[in-house]
Order: sequence, then structure tokens, then C-alpha cells
Amino acid sequence: MDPLMALLCLLPLYPGLAAEARSCPQNVNISGGTFTLSHGWAPGSVLTYSCPMGYYPVPASRLCNSNGRWETLGSKELTKAACKRVRCPTPVSFENGMFTPRLASHPVGGNLSFQCEDGLTLRGSPVRQCRPNGMWDGETAVCDNGAGHCPNPGISVGAVRTGSRFGLGDKVSYRCSSNLVLTGSAERECQANGAWSGTEPICRQPYSYDFPEDVGPAMGASFSHLLGATNPTQKKTKSMGRKIQIQRSGHLNLYLLLDASQSVSEGDFQIFKKSAILMVDRIFSFEINVSVAIITFASNPKVIMSVLYDDSRDVTEVINSLNNVNYKDHENGTGTNTYAALNSVHIMMNNQMQRLGMKTAAWQEIRHAIILLTDGKSNMGGSPKLAVDNIKEILNINQQRSDYLDIYAIGVGKLDVDWRELNELGSKKDGERHAFILQDTEALYQVFEHMLDVSQLTDTICGVGNMSANASVQERTPWHVTIKPRAQETCRGALISDQWVLTAAHCFRNAENSSLWRVSVGDPKSQWGKDFSIDKVVISSEFNVFAKKDQGIREFYGDDIALLKLAEKVKMSTHARPICLPCTVEANLALRRPPGSTCRDHESELLNKLSIPAHFVALNGNKMNINLKTGTEWTSCIEAVSQDKITFPDLKDVREVVTDQFLCSGTENDDNPCKGESGGAVFLERRHRFFQVGLVSWGLYNPCVKNNKNARQRAPKGKIPRDFHISLFRQQPWLRQHLEGILNFLPL
Ligand SMILES: *[C@@H]1O[C@H](CO)[C@@H](O)[C@H](O)[C@H]1NC(C)=O
Ligand SMILES: *[C@@H]1O[C@H](CO)[C@@H](O)[C@H](O)[C@H]1NC(C)=O
Ligand SMILES: *[C@@H]1O[C@H](CO)[C@@H](O)[C@H](O)[C@H]1NC(C)=O
Ligand SMILES: *[C@@H]1O[C@H](CO)[C@@H](O)[C@H](O)[C@H]1NC(C)=O
Ligand SMILES: *[C@@H]1O[C@H](CO)[C@@H](O)[C@H](O)[C@H]1NC(C)=O
Ligand SMILES: *[C@@H]1O[C@H](CO)[C@@H](O)[C@H](O)[C@H]1NC(C)=O
Ligand SMILES: *[C@@H]1O[C@H](CO)[C@@H](O)[C@H](O)[C@H]1NC(C)=O
Ligand SMILES: [Mg+2]
Repeated sequence: MDPLMALLCLLPLYPGLAAEARSCPQNVNISGGTFTLSHGWAPGSVLTYSCPMGYYPVPASRLCNSNGRWETLGSKELTKAACKRVRCPTPVSFENGMFTPRLASHPVGGNLSFQCEDGLTLRGSPVRQCRPNGMWDGETAVCDNGAGHCPNPGISVGAVRTGSRFGLGDKVSYRCSSNLVLTGSAERECQANGAWSGTEPICRQPYSYDFPEDVGPAMGASFSHLLGATNPTQKKTKSMGRKIQIQRSGHLNLYLLLDASQSVSEGDFQIFKKSAILMVDRIFSFEINVSVAIITFASNPKVIMSVLYDDSRDVTEVINSLNNVNYKDHENGTGTNTYAALNSVHIMMNNQMQRLGMKTAAWQEIRHAIILLTDGKSNMGGSPKLAVDNIKEILNINQQRSDYLDIYAIGVGKLDVDWRELNELGSKKDGERHAFILQDTEALYQVFEHMLDVSQLTDTICGVGNMSANASVQERTPWHVTIKPRAQETCRGALISDQWVLTAAHCFRNAENSSLWRVSVGDPKSQWGKDFSIDKVVISSEFNVFAKKDQGIREFYGDDIALLKLAEKVKMSTHARPICLPCTVEANLALRRPPGSTCRDHESELLNKLSIPAHFVALNGNKMNINLKTGTEWTSCIEAVSQDKITFPDLKDVREVVTDQFLCSGTENDDNPCKGESGGAVFLERRHRFFQVGLVSWGLYNPCVKNNKNARQRAPKGKIPRDFHISLFRQQPWLRQHLEGILNFLPL
């Protein structure tokens, strides 16, 4: 018999073969884009399309059903997938003014201009540009006559507003036109404090996602423009301060809920997992009392870690547990039961309350933050809102206690999300948004940084900087100070405690009268800056520029180190905090090393490679990148000195100039410090904390341009740049001699 015939005849008798025939067809290409499959072509597999920046896929995803057919949400037809151009919505109405151009929708990069009728002032952005995520940049334009108790709340692009009275207690409500999705508050009320309740409603394209820089301002301060600058009758409230509070007192419970349902692919789940690990690692970096719960969920929740377990306070155990969470745990129930997941948080809270006692401070002082990593789309178990209501009830969340609960609903990755539900889940406190869609883990990390409020962390914890790209330079390196031995700034330094500054000895060569010296701490150009006079100067007695003059070394920078004691203690803030000095107990905690560690352990942990990425701070405050060389790479790094015949005309041994006191950088694409950057910290990042390993001393090439803090020039041809920094590991005896009792040193 013809083999093909035989196979065809046998087919109906072999269900296994028939099942294989039910895999989904492969004609699902998308023009201009790519796709991924969660389980190949087999039934149950989720296909996710993606498109380049400025485009979005239609459909966003497909599901291979048990009949071997691709299903698309809301349509049974297999239409050809395509990448479509992202467009921004157009205003439906704009009161008391006009806008141009008038299009049905707007292309990415297009501008929309607003103008008010005569006599009215425009608040918000007069020109807005359409961004690649389908959202307008800037803020809603409003033509306000300032007559109401509350400022005119405006009508965001794409929205329709009902209600045009802005007196105390008046309400306005919003809906979105066409197929736009409303996020934020659909109804708002004018409150006694002159602010509208809730958050500004934004009408989004269903496919839009957030850029981290949009989310930052939306968290905490999105309303400042309505309250402050543009409405002179309203005093700007200092801080809405309802982010995740990082503070020493009390306790934080962080509940991480990871959606492992079918609509989330295994790849997306891996992104959730990585995001969760990053958040946990960051939150533990502040040395606060925190317990982390981990719950994965699909049709049923699975509690991986409860806040009742002792391990929930141990970062290593929590991260281990997160590493072991498994998408496959939910293979037999792949629905999305967000209600049950939140309810398991409620049960956990209830158990903890029973254990601690409802009326005790120990229970009442716990702050709770719930982070749902999900695509929304719950499809079983009933409304998640009921579980949220139960949680609010058990935590006794009312106006006074609204700080004690935060719920964030976050989608990360190339998810096809349900905006309505995410919006429903995130708490909507006044002026804040708690639901986001981000493209990747890096974007989530940026956003998480903004979710944290460290303004209450006022003790001298070392090496805590703000990791957000949108933080000010001083917030990113709050230990950085400017030293003014003479009338103008000449050197930089680093706070190493609340009263001591570490810097270079050569800064004080020609400065005699120390009562005139000043140290600028914080950001000198802002309210955060303050000039300190100096109580005590300790310059290394070994420092002598001319020590090796008779060996043909015109200048020698061995022991180029000094300490300044400020006349007063610095008040710790987000703009002024010390850096961690290795070989101290403080640094040991920050490195999360066991108590018995030594200075040598710190050196081998921090300088653990032949080439170690590190930083220094430039004159304009920017964080610059260098690579510190060790071992054989150090030897070749310092070799450049012997080739510099101009500075060192008859040098016999490079090691006479560059002793083992110096760290070396300046090879390849390293940045080079300028003259005025001397004394500043050479530092590196470990576990989200910062450690000073050296201080900027001298170099072969000065890249700076006179009178321009922002310009740096690359070394001209023939000039080999190299930079040398005093190693703090080689200055331990001197540091210990002068800082005993100020810092707690580990054994050498
Ligand atoms: C889909 O695209 C891939 C790569 O572009 C190509 O190899 C494959 O033949 C295409 N399949 C179909 C069914 O068009
Ligand atoms: C929109 O405005 C920006 C800045 O004002 C400008 O760079 C851009 O070219 C404008 N776009 C269009 C399409 O006119
Ligand atoms: C953390 O909690 C423990 C006991 O629960 C307490 O002894 C300790 O003081 C707390 N730490 C801080 C920094 O509040
Ligand atoms: C799913 O069900 C199968 C068959 O009953 C069982 O062998 C498997 O262990 C279940 N998986 C999980 C994660 O419970
Ligand atoms: C970082 O800075 C931003 C902007 O000032 C602020 O909103 C955020 O709370 C800060 N986060 C941390 C962890 O310092
Ligand atoms: C945030 O930083 C990005 C660059 O990382 C910048 O484009 C954006 O304008 C900044 N946004 C704010 C509000 O500072
Ligand atoms: C330093 O300057 C102060 C203030 O101008 C002055 O009172 C003091 O006498 C000076 N000290 C010396 C040693 O010159
Ligand atoms: Mg789902």
C-alpha cells in the first residue's frame, strides 16, 4: 500500500496523531514586527506581537485554542497582523480658548498648540508634542479665570467633562471619547483645601504604555502645578508624601503578587520575577524593618512567603524564594483570579493582626504596600475591588491613615493589558497615580525609585543615593561637597559622617587662613545648600609635593589626603548624606556582609576584578565613569607615566611617582577628572549603595575648559591621559588615627 494512504486511513484510530494535527497554523507573521510564542504552536500557547518604537501591533496577541485555531480577543477571524502607527488623541473640547491643528488624531512628533481667549491665563502646556507611546507630553492646558474655590480642573485631551462649577463640594465627572480608556479618577470633588480629590483623568489609547520619566512626576507631585505655581492663592503643600515611606521607625510590609495566568506568558512572568527581585533588593538596601510576602497566582493563589515567616525579613531568603517561584505551579488552573490573590493578602493581614493584637502599636504602625505585577484581565473569582475593600477595612484606612496602605498595579513587558482593571486596582490618592504599564525591568526600576520616599530617613545611613535618572545630581551623590579654601571653589570632597569631610591635601597648599575656608554641602544653588565653616583641619603630615624633587620628580602626590571637621553637624536629607567608607561597620552593613568581616574582605569584595567600573563627580555635578585597574592591568595603566617625557623628563622608575598608594584610571573610554575635581570621592556601587574607595589626586591630562563647567575635551593625539587616586585601603592607619570614635572600624 502507498504509505501516505496508510497514514490517512490510520489517522482516525490514533487520537495522539490527531492531537498533533491540532497545533495552530504558522501563518501568523506580522509585517514590520516580530512575535514570541509561550508554548510553541501547541494549544494553550500565547502569541505576543511586538513592533518598533512608534508603532503598535494589531492584534496585540493571539491564543492557540484547543481546536488548533488562533483566537484573538474580541474576534474569531484570523486577520493579518500588522504594525500600525501610534497616534495621539485629539481634544474633544477645550473651554475658553482654541487649539490647532484640528485633526481626528495626531502623528507621533506632531504638536498641538493651545490659546486662551483674551483676558484668561493659560495654565499647563501651551504646546504639547505627541510622543511615541501615544501620549501627549507636558500638562493639560487650562484657560482659567481663577473664580472658583478650586482651580478649573480642565478637560484632558480626549475627555468630556460634566460639571462646570468649581465651588466647595462641587463635583465634576469625566468620560473618554471613542475607544480611549480612562485612567485616573472619573469623578472628582472640590475639597476644602482648594484641591480636587483623586487624580486627573487621562484618556489613553488602549495600546499606550508609560515612560519612566512620565511616571516619576505623576507619583506624588502631579498636582503641584495646580496647587502651587499657577494658582497664587494656594500655597504649595510641601510634600504629598504618600509614597512608600522609607523610615527607621515602624515596619513596612511589602506584598508582591505575581500573575502567572495564561494571558501572561512564561517570558513575561520571568520579567515579573526579575522586577520583583530588583524591588526587594532595593528596599532592603535602606536597612529598615521590612517583611516581604510573595504570592504567585492564576486560578488560585500560592503563598510562597508570608509576612508571618521569620524569613520574610531576611533579604537572602526572600530573594531565594523569588528565584524559585515557578510559572508551572499554576499549569492546572490558568485563569486569573485577582480577587483570590488579594484575598490571600487580606487573610495574611488578619493573621498578623491576631498575632500582634488589634489595638497594639506594633500592628497599627505597620505600613503596607501591595504591588501587583499583572496584565489586569481577571476573569474569575469576582471583583478584586471587594478584596481591596476588605483590606482597607482591616487596616482601618481612613483620611488620617491613608499613608498606611498603597496599592500599585503594574504591568511590565510587552503585555496586552487591561487598562481599566489596572486603574481600578491601583489606589487613587489625591494627586497620585498607582497604575502603570512599563516596557521593561529597567523602566520599572526607574519608577520604583520614585515610589520610595526617603525624606523621613534622617539618620546618618551611609552611601544612599537616588538612582533615578530624573533625580537632581546632588540627590544622586548627596555626599559630594565643594571646598572653597580661597574666594573661589578649588576642590571637591566627600561627607564621610555628619561632620567630617574627606578631601585631598594639595587643595590647601597656598591657603593659609582656615577661618576663611568654606564647605558647601547639599546643592549650593538650592534651598538645600548650606555653607559650613571649618572647625579643624587635618592634613597628612607625610604629604610633601617637593619630596622627590632631586629625583627629577617635580611634583609628588603621595599621602595627598586631608580631613576637615565642619563647625556644625550637617542635617541629613536627600541632598546631604555621607558616603560609606570601606573597612567600617557602617559599610559592612551596607554590603550586607556577616559581622566578623575584615578590611581585607572589603578590599577583595570592592576591588574584585582587574578592571572595576567606578565614578567621580564632575564640576557640573554629573556622575562620570572610569575603570579602576588592579593587578597586571594596574601595572600597564601606570606605564603611561614614563611615556610622558614633558612632565617627567628623566624618570628612572615609574613606581617612584605612582606608588602603591594610588589607584589608576584613564584608559580606553574613561572620563578624566579636571583640576577642580581633586579631592572628590572615587566611588563604586554595590547592592544599591555607594562606597568610596579613593579620592581624586592628580593626572596627566586636564580635560576641562576654562570658565565652562559643562565642557570637557578629549586628550589630543599623542597625549596619553591617566588619572591617579589615593587608595583608602592604603590609608587605613591614618584614617583610623583621626576618625576613631567617629566611624567604627573593622579589623585590618
Ligand atoms: C514568516 O516570516 C519568517 C521570517 O521572516 C519566514 O521565515 C517565514 O517563512 C514566514 N512565514 C510565513 C507563513 O509567511
Ligand atoms: C514640534 O515642536 C518641537 C519643539 O517646539 C519641534 O522641534 C518640532 O519640530 C515640532 N514638530 C512639528 C511636526 O512641527
Ligand atoms: C526593627 O524591629 C526590631 C524588632 O522588631 C526592633 O528591635 C528594632 O529596633 C527595629 N529596627 C529599627 C531600625 O527600627
Ligand atoms: C497538574 O495535574 C497533573 C495531573 O493531575 C499533576 O500530575 C501535576 O502535578 C499537576 N501540577 C501541579 C503544579 O499541581
Ligand atoms: C528620588 O528622587 C525623586 C525626584 O526628586 C523622588 O521623587 C524620589 O522619591 C527619590 N527616591 C529615592 C529613593 O530617593
Ligand atoms: C527625566 O529624564 C529624562 C531623561 O532620562 C528626560 O528626558 C526628561 O525630560 C526628564 N523628566 C523630568 C520630568 O525631569
Ligand atoms: C584669619 O582671618 C580672620 C578673619 O579675617 C582674622 O581674624 C585672623 O586674625 C586671621 N588669622 C591669621 C592667622 O591670619
Ligand atoms: Mg490572566
